[in-house]
Amino acid sequence: MTTTLAGKVALVTGGSRGLGAAIAKRLAHDGAAVALTYTSSPQKAAQVVRDIEVAGGKALAIRADSADVEAVKHAVTETVNTFDRLDILVNNAGVAVVAPIDQFSIEEFDRLVAVNIKGVFVATQEAICHMGEGGRIIMLGSVSSDFITPYVGLSVYALTKGAIASFTRGLTRDLGSRGITVNNIPPGPIDTDMNPADGSFAVEVTKLTALSRYGQADEVAGMVSYLASPEAAFVTGASLKIDGGSNA
Ligand SMILES: NC(=O)c1ccc[n+]([C@@H]2O[C@H](COP(=O)([O-])OP(=O)(O)OC[C@H]3O[C@@H](n4cnc5c(N)ncnc54)[C@H](OP(=O)(O)O)[C@@H]3O)[C@@H](O)[C@H]2O)c1
Repeated sequence: MTTTLAGKVALVTGGSRGLGAAIAKRLAHDGAAVALTYTSSPQKAAQVVRDIEVAGGKALAIRADSADVEAVKHAVTETVNTFDRLDILVNNAGVAVVAPIDQFSIEEFDRLVAVNIKGVFVATQEAICHMGEGGRIIMLGSVSSDFITPYVGLSVYALTKGAIASFTRGLTRDLGSRGITVNNIPPGPIDTDMNPADGSFAVEVTKLTALSRYGQADEVAGMVSYLASPEAAFVTGASLKIDGGSNA
């Protein structure tokens, strides 16, 4: 444990698996009390909480579907009620559907927009009610938003992550006068359930990276840790790619 974020409280959406779990553990390691949301993996969420507590940290798992406005609002309220404040919001929860445009259903389109865009809007709007000077909003975008969309079927996912990139820039202006920073992390391929390093696109995607490998969730968590820290106070409106050089 370190003390960079001692006394701070973070909410990580989608913290039961993958990037969100690594981010929740890293922020707790840095000294923050951490709330994390989940939808379908209560046991995995509970394990993340246990791991944090065993390491000496404070954590809370909250079931909250990011597509459900009231559930997201409740997650913010429960975080504040439990830990008395909220300093850091990590908008991590996200879903991907890979299908070419002529096969993309309206239902799947609505789900991606609800989770990847509306959920981020609601969490952010609620969270800023509790944030003061030094507040941090960190988005998990994607390099597919405005850098590279490397294979067929990513158009709608890229659309939602493009919205996050634009939202980040607008929010930066809305919240700058309050001393709240807003940044976007667009990762390249990171080995998680969403994009496993042995999945069907892995060979093709690995070839695009300069480092010839997938990234690890802990590597993204390190970047979140920096953006959440006091050291990053002058970093806002940034899009910090972490993609193994896929776009070099
Ligand atoms: N992995 C990559 O290569 C990559 C690259 C670029 C961007 N990203 C972005 O990074 C973020 C995390 O991705 P990941 O790879 O860690 O994904 P993942 O392995 O699929 O994990 C997704 C996490 O989000 C949660 N989640 C999913 N739908 C949710 C919903 N409706 N409400 C609340 N939580 C929900 C899941 O909770 P449950 O366990 O309860 O389902 C899980 O904790 C996403 O926004 C993704 O788009 C990932």
